[in-house]
Amino acid sequence: MTDIRISRRAALLGAGAIAAWASSPARALFQATDSLAVPAFIDALIAKMTLEEKAGQLQLMASAWGGGVATALNPPSTGPSFEGQIADAVAGKLTGVFNGNGAEMARRMQTAVMKQSRLKIPLIFAADVIHGHRTIFPVPVGEAASFEPDLAMRTARAAAYEAAGAGIDWTFFPMVDIARDQRWGRTMEGAGEDVLVGELFAAARVKGFQGKDLAANDAVMACIKHFAAYGAAESGLDYNSVDLSERTLREIYLPPYEAGFAAGAMSGMASFNEINGIPATANKWLMQEVLRDEWKFPGIIVSDYTGDEEMIAAGYARDGRDAARLAILAGVDMSMQSNLYTLHLPELVRSGAVPQAVVDRSVRRTLAVKNMLGLFDKPFGRIDLKREKARSRTKASLALSREAGRKAIVMLKNDGDLLPLDKSAKIALIGPFASGQHDLNGPWVVYGDNAQAIDLATGIRNAGARNVSVTLGSGVEAPLAGGIDAAVAAAQAADIVVLAIGESEGMSGEAQSRADIVLPEPQMALAEAVAKTGKPIVVVLKNGRALALHGAVKDAPAILVTWFLGSESGNATADVLFGVYSPAGRLPCSFPYESGQEPYHYDHKATGRPAPDGPRVPYKAQWRSAPNAALYPFGHGLTYGKVGYGALTVAPTMAWDGRLEVSTTVTNSGKRACEEVAQLYIHDRTASITQPVRKLKAFHKVALAPGASETVKFTLTREMLQFLGEDLKPTVEPGTFDIWIAPSAQADGAKGSFELVKG
Ligand code: BGC
Repeated sequence: MTDIRISRRAALLGAGAIAAWASSPARALFQATDSLAVPAFIDALIAKMTLEEKAGQLQLMASAWGGGVATALNPPSTGPSFEGQIADAVAGKLTGVFNGNGAEMARRMQTAVMKQSRLKIPLIFAADVIHGHRTIFPVPVGEAASFEPDLAMRTARAAAYEAAGAGIDWTFFPMVDIARDQRWGRTMEGAGEDVLVGELFAAARVKGFQGKDLAANDAVMACIKHFAAYGAAESGLDYNSVDLSERTLREIYLPPYEAGFAAGAMSGMASFNEINGIPATANKWLMQEVLRDEWKFPGIIVSDYTGDEEMIAAGYARDGRDAARLAILAGVDMSMQSNLYTLHLPELVRSGAVPQAVVDRSVRRTLAVKNMLGLFDKPFGRIDLKREKARSRTKASLALSREAGRKAIVMLKNDGDLLPLDKSAKIALIGPFASGQHDLNGPWVVYGDNAQAIDLATGIRNAGARNVSVTLGSGVEAPLAGGIDAAVAAAQAADIVVLAIGESEGMSGEAQSRADIVLPEPQMALAEAVAKTGKPIVVVLKNGRALALHGAVKDAPAILVTWFLGSESGNATADVLFGVYSPAGRLPCSFPYESGQEPYHYDHKATGRPAPDGPRVPYKAQWRSAPNAALYPFGHGLTYGKVGYGALTVAPTMAWDGRLEVSTTVTNSGKRACEEVAQLYIHDRTASITQPVRKLKAFHKVALAPGASETVKFTLTREMLQFLGEDLKPTVEPGTFDIWIAPSAQADGAKGSFELVKG
């Protein structure tokens, strides 16, 4: 049984203050690494550096290697050729490069710098290793559906092992932005809508990437991004403005960043968005007061890709020089891709616009971080062509990818126990994602290859199903000539339809905001036509965000959410389809009835006119055209067991300095083993600051054999009842709390209440 909880106060108060873990293997997650160690040689080195060399140490550029992936992923690099880039590095104009490809590139650049440059400061090699390097794991939001931070730590460790093998020192991950608006395409990169889940996965991912010793040749420096509140973009539009109260910022958005830094991440990335009128990249309050003064973060902050330069278009900086000045003064140590620091910092210092000490401080941090990574001792420590090959796509990492894949799958619905399927059934596999080497890895993969991933048709055949027809039926966003007729014929000839539909890789991720989070029209037409055959349908959704499901898809008897599962996609999905594995995933983001409900999150406030359950009552907080709830809420997910919750055992009062044990019995009355994620929610009925209708405080994953019952027990502490008072300081007030141990944020499960009494 995994018990996962975190004290809110600790999360709000800062590094090292995290407490209240109980019997958890993940307990060690929040133990921060030592603060920045700056050996004397670094100061001696800084004393020797010219202003130009200092600026160079603060400038990171996309790799120009072989027209590589970096330029395909981001706007075309305006940088020089690879040879030109080596010359820049030798001249001290670069601190390192990102999204290059492989140990050979790193070897060539590092060799030149270590042999020919004046000061021989090793380069740092960065990359977006988001959910795997060559072995691809499920997209982060999918992995969060496992409700197993320990799994995220293991996949991050495996990704670090592979990536460090290929010369990578630094990953731009984890992305810990809370996403409460599913129109935002970058939902797939984070851990969903909930703060606690966000904190736990942030910390786990940092620990996984960085390992125990950042200097080890399998450790990769983590980067907490995008600081801050990037996920709160107005109307879910990527890059859009963010306007938030300090309360919401501190209660909802900041805790996962803080948890990631507290777990020891030695770098962070400033976000593209503005917050309340000031771009994050120039936000002194965020980067000085919150990050350095309150949280005591010792590491480096890098801008996002041309984020400093973008302050010109945003109407905040006059020109490139001004943008560089604003960013460095606010605390952005390193500039990514704009080249503005190389171009302007020397003159800014000479003219007195930027104090020399500000630049020196950023250089000191940067060199100290390079030193922590072992780069001064062993500039080639992670650069080894043989090791790169040996560590790539090992049996163990592919097995982990399959494990993570099946744990990420969420079964939304299984009417009449349609699933699991019988291998001997006649299956019509239909839909644009039925087969083919596309849309398997997901939108944010730099180094993985879809061609090496297992598609659904292959997975189903690997599982031993022999009577399977495969029909595409439709394109993803465009119809396929004759597709629907062929799909209907295939369905008619089969016992059961597996309908593989959803979003392509290009429909979620960066810059892929959607006004309507529905399935594309041609796929809906396919679903409706296939449903008319009357054959039972299992919908297998591919998605990077929560979707609003309608019509034949919503009405299908069985629905699986499979996100983008990575290298072992098809095998992992087949494991669930045929019952080799009982689904255990839970939604980390609520599936609304309608797009117009967004932003939607389970922990909303009651309002003064809450809509009652049952028939509509006028003048209540409700939509005319959608229920006041999610179709499938946060925390929801079914298993192949039949899990019931008993009564809640809870004492009527909790003493001010006491603890409160709450428990219930979960029983699997079904015929198959399963794992249940029991979730502890509270609601503070009356407080000096209105509180959400429910808030997740802890969860247990419980293994249940057929017929088995287990007691699920949580210990509540006063800290877990805290919120930010009027003065934005953590507080607790005596009073009545509702409490649930439940299978989702909307289910009753085991319900009760207690009184927190003072004195
Ligand atoms: C993204 C970052 C990413 C960076 C470098 C930007 O467009 O916002 O998340 O790390 O590019 O690839």
